[in-house]
Amino acid sequence: MKKHIVLLPGDGIGAEVIQSAKQVLWAIAEEFNHEFTFESRDIGGTAVDTHGTPLPDETVAACQQADAILLGAVGGPKWDSLPSHLRPEKGLLGIRKALNLFANLRPVKGYPKLLHASPLKEEVVKGSDLLIVRELIGGLYFGTPSERRDKGQSVVDTLAYSRQEITQIVDKAFKSAQLRRHHLTSVDKANVLESSKLWREIVEEKKADYPDVKVDHLLVDAAAMKLITNPGQFDVIVTENMFGDILSDEASVLTGSLGMLPSASLREDGVGLYEPVHGSAPDIAGQGIANPLAMILSTALMLRHSFQLEDEAHLIETAVQAVLDDGYHTADLQIPDGQKIGTSHMTALIVELIKSQSATKSILNC
Ligand code: NAD
Ligand code: IPM
Ligand code: MN
Repeated sequence: MKKHIVLLPGDGIGAEVIQSAKQVLWAIAEEFNHEFTFESRDIGGTAVDTHGTPLPDETVAACQQADAILLGAVGGPKWDSLPSHLRPEKGLLGIRKALNLFANLRPVKGYPKLLHASPLKEEVVKGSDLLIVRELIGGLYFGTPSERRDKGQSVVDTLAYSRQEITQIVDKAFKSAQLRRHHLTSVDKANVLESSKLWREIVEEKKADYPDVKVDHLLVDAAAMKLITNPGQFDVIVTENMFGDILSDEASVLTGSLGMLPSASLREDGVGLYEPVHGSAPDIAGQGIANPLAMILSTALMLRHSFQLEDEAHLIETAVQAVLDDGYHTADLQIPDGQKIGTSHMTALIVELIKSQSATKSILNC
């Protein structure tokens, strides 16, 4: 298979973990006879420094031509005091919007070896396996007006959703639930917000189209509590943009680290941008100690969702599991009797396993 992939390293550890993704994809291409071509483009603070804008036109144009996009992370203290239209985060929001990537899938899976890496009790975390389906291009992040008023003495942010925007993400979540354990939890704040009332109405209406999916509604405050006291009750969670952002960082605690959570940002036709849930981690950037697994697992999601390469995606996921099972971990994770390693060593171990496991597989297939 021939595919063209645009890489958007971005800032901080974003650039470090993108290197890991590239190495993993080279190994996959070699083992499975695919041809992946790469093109790197600027986004975020790096793009502000070189182009004067967090999202240069040529970055958007390259992404529009790509078969899929991998993004590291954007942002950092260097750019924090810029006016909001120049902030690195605007580049990320802009590319999501420009490509109409309305559905952000954030799988959260507890690995057996990482049970003790979570501050939560083992019996709470054990077996957690859920998917957060986050609406990505609406709500508070994109509402207008969003501005300061009265010479900066008051502010307004707007939370707006149309029926169509809610319906498309709810449909995506129902379909995701059909591919998993047929249980959908819709999270909102319908006791207060009009947007949430419409959200809940639409979920109730849509139930009839998916009779094989069991539906619950939870208010977001209670959902935040249940996510870390009884995560096993969740299969698919669907929620609006801001709630999904917050709940997914919270859910990362189940896995032991934010450095473990991958994501896929998709639209209907399968074009996707794949990015770890974490940010640019300025506190550890440049030290070679970032956990590359969220990024590597995001490349597996790319192979699965954009290229339908299930065996290749599965092989990456198996390699991640195996490296963890062997006790290797980056500094963000604490594993009793484990061996602490850096980003490039972790990447090399995954690449090695991909090569040896695919070799074993082809011997077995002969
Ligand atoms: P962050 O996710 O960058 O970091 C939070 C904490 O988790 C830090 O202590 C960090 O060291 C740790 N961490 C995150 N990823 C890790 C990894 N892969 N390996 C090891 N440790 C990891 O969040 P923040 O500090 O609140 O934000 C920093 C910058 O990143 C901000 O500018 C923010 O806007 C931006 N950000 C970008 C994205 C994105 O590009 N998708 C996502 C979140 C935050
Ligand atoms: C994420 C990030 C972004 C978001 C920021 C950097 C704009 O936190 O991808 O989760 O809130 O969507
Ligand atoms: Mn976030």
